[in-house]
Amino acid sequence: MRKMQDKITSLLNEIKQSTAGSAEELENFRVRFISKKSVIGSLFSELKNVANEDKREVGQQLNELKNSAQTKFKELINQVDQQKNSGDSIDIDVTLPDGGIELGAVHPLSYIQFKIIEIFERIGFNVADGPEIEDDWHNFSALNFPENHPAREMQDTFFIERDPDILLRTHTSNVQVRLTENERPPIRSIMPGRVFRNEAISARAHCVFHQVEGLYVDKNVSFVDLKHTLYHFAQEMFGKDTKVRYRPSYFPFTEPSAEIDISCQICHGDGCQLCKYTGWVEIAGSGMVDPNVLKNCEIDPEEYTGFAFGMGIERITQLKFRVNDLRLYTENDVRFLKQFRSLH
Ligand code: PHE
Repeated sequence: MRKMQDKITSLLNEIKQSTAGSAEELENFRVRFISKKSVIGSLFSELKNVANEDKREVGQQLNELKNSAQTKFKELINQVDQQKNSGDSIDIDVTLPDGGIELGAVHPLSYIQFKIIEIFERIGFNVADGPEIEDDWHNFSALNFPENHPAREMQDTFFIERDPDILLRTHTSNVQVRLTENERPPIRSIMPGRVFRNEAISARAHCVFHQVEGLYVDKNVSFVDLKHTLYHFAQEMFGKDTKVRYRPSYFPFTEPSAEIDISCQICHGDGCQLCKYTGWVEIAGSGMVDPNVLKNCEIDPEEYTGFAFGMGIERITQLKFRVNDLRLYTENDVRFLKQFRSLH
């Protein structure tokens, strides 16, 4: 028992006299007196060898030893902290080179969207916005979609509720309706945004993508205005030697309607996989706003006419940057995103 008590007394002294001037000394103290393998810990395990009648007393002394080690440790922590704060011992080497700051890159789809907006703003269009969650009227009915149109089926459209239908908009044309309901001509707006279709995700199809809608309603707006506006856009976006052609098409909300093709930016007309060896790629749907749509929005089609178009931002981006897989846009792979660092 004496031997044990001697050890306790000498450790008590050692603790009392301990100082710590650095984090390293603090750690040495912790290892010696506080940690699981500390000297105090090993004394506790020797307790079983002490005679039974002495166990109580020695146990008490050991507990006191443990407490005084813990109290001292707290004191030393404060001491070291204060030294740090007073700047006496700074352990940062400010002369070391830093790791460099990595600059982020604008997303290619954002970049192309900004470019499209810029081109149309310069010729007098403003930017409008509309909801992604839409009712049947603004996404379909006001746009002249017949009751049994396939887009109104579950396999094409994401419905949130049915009867009355609430859905994720399948195109940005819903904003055409919202604008025409709320504003009077002249209306000259572009409307960028996300759209949703019930498609399996692959390199060529996605359930979420981006469109820019355009709408111009005023007196005497004609198909010539439509043709020249989109010709101007193609020249600004893709360069002066870009050819544009208009192919007759059909949309419920435009009459006449045309699909707009530009000369293939990849093969320049020689034929490649992207243009399916035709030399042309489609970039937008367009047409003269159907008189029924104007009527639905309480604009007199005898007095006003208009044109509308809708283009896919992913498609324009693919043509500009040769991105062949739609999934790359949303996978957030930095090896892909880093390649657009020089854009601004
Ligand atoms: N909304 C059509 C689509 O998503 C595109 C379009 C817009 C066509 C405006 C004509 C006029 O395919």
